[in-house]
Amino acid sequence: MKLTKNFFFATVIVSLIMTACNNSSEEKKDTPVTETTSKTGITRSDFGNVDNKPVYLYTLTNAKGDQVKITNYGGIVTSWVSPDKKGNRTSIVLGFDSLRNYLAGHPYFGALVGRYGNRIAKGKFKIGDNTYTLATNNGANHLHGGIKGFDKQVWDATVANDAVPELSLSYTSKDMEEGYPGNLKVNVTYTLTDDDGLQIEYNAETDKPTVLNLTNHSYFNLTGDPSNSILDHEMMINANYYTPVDTGLITTGELKAVKGTPFDFNTPEKIGSRIAQVGGNPGGYDHNFVLNRTDSSLQLAVTVTDSVSGRKLQVFTTQPGVQFYTGNFLDGSIKGSDGKPFNKNCAFCLETQHFPDSPNQPKFPTTLLKPGEKYHSVTMYKLSVE
Ligand code: GLA
Repeated sequence: MKLTKNFFFATVIVSLIMTACNNSSEEKKDTPVTETTSKTGITRSDFGNVDNKPVYLYTLTNAKGDQVKITNYGGIVTSWVSPDKKGNRTSIVLGFDSLRNYLAGHPYFGALVGRYGNRIAKGKFKIGDNTYTLATNNGANHLHGGIKGFDKQVWDATVANDAVPELSLSYTSKDMEEGYPGNLKVNVTYTLTDDDGLQIEYNAETDKPTVLNLTNHSYFNLTGDPSNSILDHEMMINANYYTPVDTGLITTGELKAVKGTPFDFNTPEKIGSRIAQVGGNPGGYDHNFVLNRTDSSLQLAVTVTDSVSGRKLQVFTTQPGVQFYTGNFLDGSIKGSDGKPFNKNCAFCLETQHFPDSPNQPKFPTTLLKPGEKYHSVTMYKLSVE
């Protein structure tokens, strides 16, 4: 069984390698999105203005006609339109078609998260003898980069249309932004492959020792209609351990075996089959899974399938962990551009990452980045229809 599994992962890797805050500023305009043709490549339309900087919406189209829309405001993936088994094309991620909705506040829909994905307890950590105090924006804790994290910044964009559409986003985070030390240069490249893979490559460098944990916070609903819950989706997570949390959702430092718990997704299980046993307030999965891996190559972490639409999502990553979140805080108060409410459990997130609160947990893999070092990670969300 183990051999077969390892062989399967090896095959997947080989085949992959081969085939491949509140905003202080106001929105100045809210230009409607220009319809793009289904031609392969990348097009740009005006999306508005933030911090006196122009914001665009980029449409990446692959040879199959899959379309991913990404804005340079927060590096947000606003939609990913792909066919279901009957050929109906709908978006499988939560998002809005107007910048105004994003500026009104949202729980990181599709956004690039940094400098630190998930929570840092009490917003404090130490590097050597220096204690750093971060902005706190989640009770007493720091969440997803603070008050004005990377999800609320306007990134510089460059596009490439060579073999497949590629959007490269850059942002320089100044020394002590949100309390983090070091001037940090970040580059994130989104690539849409012809076999419906959305690859996200993260690179960064600093001029002072700092901590870093970059991720993307897309919310998926494989039915393509967020009025359906995701509790019937089947999920496999390649993880024998997870990191338990306290009532404030702060990791306790323990690595707990998933065996015999509702966290065991080593064999496919419906997301909803044991969710009531997970507990917590408002209840549901909001946990980091420790991925089974022997090295830091791109490996299969998660597979999710929806039998009704026939869609399958596979997540490959070089990261040690993945935050599985079942949209527990969604309560219908935020509505999609079509007016339909985003209710609890109408989407799931798979935030590939280092473990939450690693800067305060010496036993977790380090998130320290020093001058001269290069931060690099890759995650691929791969869609198919069965
Ligand atoms: C992450 C966190 C959740 C929640 C969402 C955003 O997944 O772990 O607790 O903050 O982001 O709402």
